[in-house]
Amino acid sequence: MTVDNISSGTVHGNRIGGTTVTTTRTQPVINPATGERIGEVPLSESADVDAAVQAARSAQPGWAALAPQQRAEILARWADLLADNREDLAATATAEMGKLIKESLGEVDRAIAEIRFMGGEALRADGQTFPSTRSGTLVYTTRVPVGTVAAITPWNFPIVSPVRKIAPALAVGDAVVVKPAEQSPLSALLLIDLLLEAGLPAGVVNVVCGSGAEIGDVLVAHPGIDAISFTGSTAIGRRISRSAGERLIPVQLELGGKNAAYVDADADLDRAVAEIVSASIQATGQRCTAISRVVAHESIADELTARIAAEYDALSVGPGTDSVDVGPLVSESARDKVVNYVEGAIAAGAVAATSGRQTPDGPYLAPTVLDHVRPEMTVAREEVFGPVLSVIRVPDAATAIKVANESEYGLAGCIFTKDLAAALAFAEQLDTGMVHVNHGTASQPHVPFGGVRASGLGAYSIGHVAQDFFTKLKVVYVAA
Ligand code: NAI
Ligand code: MG
Repeated sequence: MTVDNISSGTVHGNRIGGTTVTTTRTQPVINPATGERIGEVPLSESADVDAAVQAARSAQPGWAALAPQQRAEILARWADLLADNREDLAATATAEMGKLIKESLGEVDRAIAEIRFMGGEALRADGQTFPSTRSGTLVYTTRVPVGTVAAITPWNFPIVSPVRKIAPALAVGDAVVVKPAEQSPLSALLLIDLLLEAGLPAGVVNVVCGSGAEIGDVLVAHPGIDAISFTGSTAIGRRISRSAGERLIPVQLELGGKNAAYVDADADLDRAVAEIVSASIQATGQRCTAISRVVAHESIADELTARIAAEYDALSVGPGTDSVDVGPLVSESARDKVVNYVEGAIAAGAVAATSGRQTPDGPYLAPTVLDHVRPEMTVAREEVFGPVLSVIRVPDAATAIKVANESEYGLAGCIFTKDLAAALAFAEQLDTGMVHVNHGTASQPHVPFGGVRASGLGAYSIGHVAQDFFTKLKVVYVAA
């Protein structure tokens, strides 16, 4: 296929019922590195959402009726097409949201791995059998598709976020309406075109572009939607949860994080520094699982902070298409928000450990380490979503766990230590969905992924547990 997604001025349409549907109102997609308009996408209205939901509902029973191997084969072909179009997909993601090309290529590879795993899941949907208290009776559970799923995705992972919702849905026989983020719809459109090329029947997956504020509520409250998978801010997650609660439909919410890395007195500092820098700076810190708090044992805090700050000061900053270490933030307004956090922290008594050097014009920010942050400061509590690390000093591991848990978020956390008992205590007591020991906050493509408290609600995504959201459990009693 030919890809013209990122040629300037191209007007794109929604993908509804297997066809491209243009709208009268459109909105530009902006390259954050250059400020250029790289395309126009629909600013959809409720009638467009309705058409997409109807198309999905019409297509879903036929899709669910296919043999699971047939669904798996289409997913396998989709994965192959992502591999064939790896560079175009990566270039599209980088153009629309700014991350480094190498990060976008890594994201395509990750998406391929998740699709391949989920293709296999078509034949692994499982149930249980139970001994019966009545003789001659078979009792078992089975999985049935949840139906038509709304997939609302953020801009920070424009390729993997839609894939992480579409692939498990398709594996089990669901249909999908995708609402990609305003900032990054082009990757989603390209993904769907590849899926149609892979042989997906028309209407099984539809994409409606538009403003979350204008059509988000319409999609979420649409009576034709059976379940909602959302990744994004905690505020919108709460709003979606309220609406879904009213209708008693399931949600899978993947929300923000305030992930802490505790570095114990005996930690291997080479390792801790390398893992913390990598897990805090990837995607310019715009990851839900980014490390954003370093909780440092006071005996090593000076050395640790100085070493991380030196690494941060050595990171080159520039457009994602250049060979630099850190790309732009997604927009000028996102940059301003992050700058506000840094300035507020310094006004509250934090001390910048990095040099605050000049960066190129545009939504760039020098990676910043803030030392002497206190747990009650705003920068230590809210999701900053930028290249900023807060160092909080603690006297012992027990205080470290207390500080790490002093957050409404509960996504991921890490400990760096050689003390096995300290590691196990941390893993047990940290109130997060995921814990890493001597390992940054990086996940793998077949392992459950999710958070607790303000970081998430509903079944975790990725891996075999995805079926808990994308299917309904049915219990069957059979007497001969
Ligand atoms: P957002 O939560 O507003 O947007 C995420 C998605 O939700 C987008 O597709 C958006 O169009 C949609 N949306 C917006 N309002 C909606 C509504 N009423 N109903 C249904 N869908 C709606 O996030 P935004 O504005 O892009 O970023 C704000 C902050 O949220 C970031 O600075 C960051 O702190 C956090 N965030 C966290 C993410 C994560 O990976 N955990 C991803 C994106 C944002
Ligand atoms: Mg928003």
